[in-house]
Amino acid sequence: MSDTWKIVMVASECVPYAKSGGLADVVGALPAALQKLGHEVIIVIPKYRAIDAEQFDIQPFLSPMGVWMGDTEEWCAVYKIQNQAGVAVYLIESDKYFDRDGLYHDAEFNDFLDNPRRFAFLTRAALQLCIDIGFKPDVVHAHDWQTALASAYLKTWHWDDPVLGGAASFLTIHNIGYQGVYDAGHYDYTGLQWGNFTSDKFEDHGKVNFLKGGIYYADLVNTVSPTYAKETRTPEMAHGMAPYLNDKGENYVGILNGVDYSQWNPEIDPLIPANYSRDDLTGKGICKRELQKRFYLYEDGDIPLIGVISRLAHQKGLDLLSGAIESVLDDMHVQFVLLGSGDKALERYFAHLPVRYPGRAGSYIGYNNELAHWIEAGVDMFLMPSRYEPCGLNQIYSLKYGTLPVVRATGGLDDTVEQYDEATGGGTGFKFIEASAHSIYYTVGWAVSTYYDRRGHWDQMVRRAMEKRFSWDDSAQEYVAAYRRAIENKKGL
Ligand code: ADP
Ligand code: GLC
Repeated sequence: MSDTWKIVMVASECVPYAKSGGLADVVGALPAALQKLGHEVIIVIPKYRAIDAEQFDIQPFLSPMGVWMGDTEEWCAVYKIQNQAGVAVYLIESDKYFDRDGLYHDAEFNDFLDNPRRFAFLTRAALQLCIDIGFKPDVVHAHDWQTALASAYLKTWHWDDPVLGGAASFLTIHNIGYQGVYDAGHYDYTGLQWGNFTSDKFEDHGKVNFLKGGIYYADLVNTVSPTYAKETRTPEMAHGMAPYLNDKGENYVGILNGVDYSQWNPEIDPLIPANYSRDDLTGKGICKRELQKRFYLYEDGDIPLIGVISRLAHQKGLDLLSGAIESVLDDMHVQFVLLGSGDKALERYFAHLPVRYPGRAGSYIGYNNELAHWIEAGVDMFLMPSRYEPCGLNQIYSLKYGTLPVVRATGGLDDTVEQYDEATGGGTGFKFIEASAHSIYYTVGWAVSTYYDRRGHWDQMVRRAMEKRFSWDDSAQEYVAAYRRAIENKKGL
């Protein structure tokens, strides 16, 4: 078997063009790391309205391209760009599906009703593009429910296609909480034939489940941390998918995400007020002051500043935080800032917090990448009380920025943060087990008392955290090993 492969990544997000969460960071960074290892990777994503064609010098590439949706052929155009790492990114233009504000939902967070059709179209278009340009992939790598159908198409429609027939299918689950479950009528235009609408494949309590069908057909499935891979084999954590993931046996694995340290590194980050390193943390103090100014907080270098950057979704446990944060602010000498958007009740709650705690609490409801960098650099501790967390990237960014994570010990949070040891000063953060407001309160209290009373330990932990490396180079090697197994599975070796 050749040691370098052709790989197609098909996904609904990719940094720097379109992002709602960590999926985009992964799809932006993994191909570059694979390319460094000698593989040829292309990325296919939608051309959303929000992508600025001029800013990125996006060029028309192919038009028109016909894509079969059930019994009808629909038409789109393809644009192309090389990303910063020299990876070719193809953008599928279809006004009907992608020329609207928002990736998945409108401004009120109502999901677009045609999401299954939009992403089935993207997936079929990506495969059609391979045929049209003669790109004969060894691996088609899909991400989450949006593109999970790729594995089914490869095993059905394209099984004997000269370009696609040999490709192994690989599916990464970034979040099992989103499975793409819709009324069965949506199955029609997938063209996947009703014979496959069975309870081991696509059928899910009478509905169609895109992720479930994708899992069935994929030659190999992974998720984004070893602990989440174990957790999702249990009924409590798998949102109904445990039996199907267990059926995959050895062909379901966990591979920890890496970090793009060209984007997230306080030594070179162009977005933050001052750069710094583990040998000279002066710049971190400046970042803290500037962040305090930006949020109208009292400027005080010695008060512990707690930060959150998050989608305001049930997964992230910020409703639990809303039950703890006022006690934290009432009882402890701390400051707090939050950047996030999502759940409307939580948006209202956190938007109002600064009014109740002037000078001590700040919030920005919305999406702001620059501010995310400011917060990583400017706060002392980063809070992630997630109910579940497949990997989590912000806590890993925090480590690099010398910002100690306070996290629930779940999924990738448990894999990347080492518990503080009060006896030795060891560890890189503070972990708790129970998903409750109480646990958040007490663990923040533990971190705050360490900041004030065991300052030597705190400073050691900051330096230790900044030394940790979660490099994409290592994770890419693991993906290569997993691709090899997928290719062997496909060939029946
Ligand atoms: P998830 O993908 O579940 O949202 P991750 O921790 O893997 O969680 O990744 C979240 C990514 O999205 C991080 O890069 C984070 O900085 C970014 N992010 C989340 N919310 C916002 C926001 N409101 N503004 C800017 N960046 C955000
Ligand atoms: C998902 C998960 C998050 C993970 C990200 C990238 O959005 O919620 O934990 O880090 O995907 O894999």
